[in-house]
Amino acid sequence: MVENQKEHGDRNAADKAQSLLVQTFVHHLEQQQSICDVLEAIADSLPGNVDVQVCHRVGQTLLPLIVRAHQFEESQLFPFLGKSKHFQFELMQTIKRLRAEHVSDEDYAADICGAFAGEIRNLDRSQAESLGWMLRGFFENVRRHISLEREHILPLIETNYTKLTMQR
Ligand SMILES: [Fe+2]
Repeated sequence: MVENQKEHGDRNAADKAQSLLVQTFVHHLEQQQSICDVLEAIADSLPGNVDVQVCHRVGQTLLPLIVRAHQFEESQLFPFLGKSKHFQFELMQTIKRLRAEHVSDEDYAADICGAFAGEIRNLDRSQAESLGWMLRGFFENVRRHISLEREHILPLIETNYTKLTMQR
């Protein structure tokens, strides 16, 4: 009886931890999705209708937002998946790919922040095209990355905890 209560308590704690993991993951995915939408709006507005204040704000928030999302995944989410019975070769390869994309996306985000810290007004046609190309390259990559995580990673951690039993 006491053993059953302990098991039940452990299960509740594990379910709560997993639920928090799902919520935090979804929060980071939504934040990245939102900033991609803002970047697309900026790219569409170049060069004549660009909102310089928005660019400066994004220039200050983009990199920290991306880094926070990556740090969460790498310090909490991926280790959690690594302990599950789902952790097989295919998932290991997917996580390896996601980690590599984190590195390149952070470099890319730093370049965009650098561009937004400079002169955004009065860009000539070629400068506007090159900035637009950079923004589109970044948000298209990040959207692909988010889709992969929504389709392949999120369902794994949303799975009922009893099906995602930790290996002991
Ligand atoms: Fe990621």
